[in-house]
Amino acid sequence: MQHYLSLKDIDSLPQWVEEARSLKANPLQFKALGEAKTICLLFFNNSLRTRLSTQKAAMNLGMEVIVMNFGSEGWALEYGDGTIMDQGTSEHIKEAAQVVAQYCDIVAIRAFASLTDREKDEAEVVMNGFKKYAGIPVVNMESSVGHPLQALADAITLAENNTKKRPKVVLSWAPHPKALPHAVANSFVEMMHLQEADFVITHPKGYDLNPEVTKGAKIEYDQDKALEDADFVYVKNWSSYKDYGKVMNQDKNWTMTNKKLGKAKFMHCLPVRRNVVVADEVLDGPNSLVVQQANNRTYSAQIVLKKLLESLKG
Ligand code: CP
Repeated sequence: MQHYLSLKDIDSLPQWVEEARSLKANPLQFKALGEAKTICLLFFNNSLRTRLSTQKAAMNLGMEVIVMNFGSEGWALEYGDGTIMDQGTSEHIKEAAQVVAQYCDIVAIRAFASLTDREKDEAEVVMNGFKKYAGIPVVNMESSVGHPLQALADAITLAENNTKKRPKVVLSWAPHPKALPHAVANSFVEMMHLQEADFVITHPKGYDLNPEVTKGAKIEYDQDKALEDADFVYVKNWSSYKDYGKVMNQDKNWTMTNKKLGKAKFMHCLPVRRNVVVADEVLDGPNSLVVQQANNRTYSAQIVLKKLLESLKG
């Protein structure tokens, strides 16, 4: 594997989940693998889990870690070819990526969607710019369209809690006051395409995700119907894809409650707005897996870094 940019970079999800669970049982078993190797973590956006868990994963593998809040501390980057740079951008991705690559062996990047220009967001200029010019492995720590480290952690969490051959898993939209990206939902759907499960997506009309991502998935606009007999309910807000980046609806009837959840396990990537996205009673109750999901972020990052380090060693 050369890069970890999307779920497509996983050759066998069950095998990766099994290996990640083995790393969780004995996190320091490959401590020598990353000796004398450095990872740069570049954040164009805020983070708690991704920043700490990826750092922890790298440390478990014996790597050195350099973290930079690029969005607030780095030069504003230009991505266009042939641009006359007489406006707000100070440095071109061509130089920046090559320079970063001199300081590390792997670069991991977080760069969210703008939610103002769908075409530009889908072009993934930051991730693809580093991939094109850095010449070292690139890890996606949440881009405009995907959050594959989160989805891999979610797969680990599902495996740890599933007791059925074919569980029912529901991805349910929830209200939120701000326009949020589609990345987590997209990667969760892509990950569920690789699972043996009865998978249903539910959201109000107007909130359909990119049809290329949801192709083949069951979509049910009636949330109560979708939630019937669910084993796992993954709740997430996203803004409209069709009316790109717009908040069309803040209907509180979509907030997850114990009554809606029933006996199902509750999942969310965090951070989460209490009593908007989900009621306190769910987050504080026995069926919430959110802290376990956050813990599994370390092992999803660790399996990815382990595979990249193995590739580097040839
Ligand atoms: N779930 C997740 O990516 O959390 P952070 O945004 O805090 O990194």
